[in-house]
Amino acid sequence: ETAATDFDFESYITDIPDYPEPGVVFKDITPLFADANAMRQAITALADHFRGRGVTKVIGPEARGFMVGVPVALELGAGFIPARKPGKLPRETVSISYELEYGTDTLEIHADALEPGDRVLIIDDLVATGGTVAATGKLVQNMGAELIGYGCILELAFLNPRDALAASGDQELFSLV
Ligand code: PRP
Ligand code: ADE
Repeated sequence: ETAATDFDFESYITDIPDYPEPGVVFKDITPLFADANAMRQAITALADHFRGRGVTKVIGPEARGFMVGVPVALELGAGFIPARKPGKLPRETVSISYELEYGTDTLEIHADALEPGDRVLIIDDLVATGGTVAATGKLVQNMGAELIGYGCILELAFLNPRDALAASGDQELFSLV
């Protein structure tokens, strides 16, 4: 499902061919964040979609997931939990490794960040292969919390991220573009 808004988010996202390596078209969302109205429209559209579903925690993967996840959490009245690259969190962590469109990575969250009753929404700027959000979703489920769904600004549908997500359940992926 995509957004119930007519706002043209796509016109604020720039294509950068062959970055960070040949064959990858990098989708640059910084123009969207540089525009006060476009940024507000994006955050509001994501929050509106998941409003009323009892979300208690939003998780955002470092680093661009922080930019989108924190304001969505504020808008929903939920807490925010950072999923960070290895070695950045000071206390005991749980971690998971996954594959990116380019390379592999590991994410960690604090081991005590979620409680069994938490209702968790995972938010990122962009879903490409789905590896990042799928891995984060698995972490949430491993910790015994309830995964409500995934939200992002941009979904690269040609990379079939919904296949990666289906492996860990039937939670919804909602994207604006
Ligand atoms: C990017 C992006 C997503 C992920 C999407 O993050 O912000 O988190 O890749 O790719 P996937 O769906 O194939 O997993 P990146 O790891 O480049 O880190 P950054 O946010 O720190 O730039
Ligand atoms: N993260 C993974 N793939 C990406 C892409 N094509 N553009 C921007 N960020 C990404």
